[in-house]
Amino acid sequence: TSTENFYEAVGGYETFHKIVARFYELVADDPVLRPLYPEEDLGPAEERFRLFLMQYWGGPHTYSDQRGHPRLRMRHAPFVIGPVERDAWLRCMRVAVDEADLSPQHRDQLWAYLEMAANSLMNAWV
Ligand code: HEM
Repeated sequence: TSTENFYEAVGGYETFHKIVARFYELVADDPVLRPLYPEEDLGPAEERFRLFLMQYWGGPHTYSDQRGHPRLRMRHAPFVIGPVERDAWLRCMRVAVDEADLSPQHRDQLWAYLEMAANSLMNAWV
């Protein structure tokens, strides 16, 4: 219906789970991204990111209940994120989003946000 938010309109938990699980599968095999993740088990990072995205798009507020204010720039400060890292992140995310089969409008809306967010989290320019 017209009062549905983005989270509900794209299929709720199932859709966000699918996109983020696929993204982390690609991260696990990515030579640029994998070394940035401090933990050997990517599962907890996957869950934090999934909960954040769900909350951002109008789903449950679990991310902030568990983690507080997102402060994404601060939380990314320990990792060098230059053009190479941003591009690798967006490349994996592009595959994950495309495989989720959203409507073109939803896909474009999600993609515009992710591209903007990835650019805004850069903290190195080489
Ligand atoms: C956490 C890398 C972009 C959201 C992390 C972590 C790394 C990382 C290494 C730590 C993993 C962990 O949680 O233990 C990157 C790189 C990016 C990028 C290389 C490329 C630009 C983004 C974007 C978003 C995002 C665009 C949001 C749309 C998050 C969230 C966390 C996180 C929510 C967990 C924060 C917490 O501790 O609660 N990221 N990230 N990241 N990232 Fe990113």
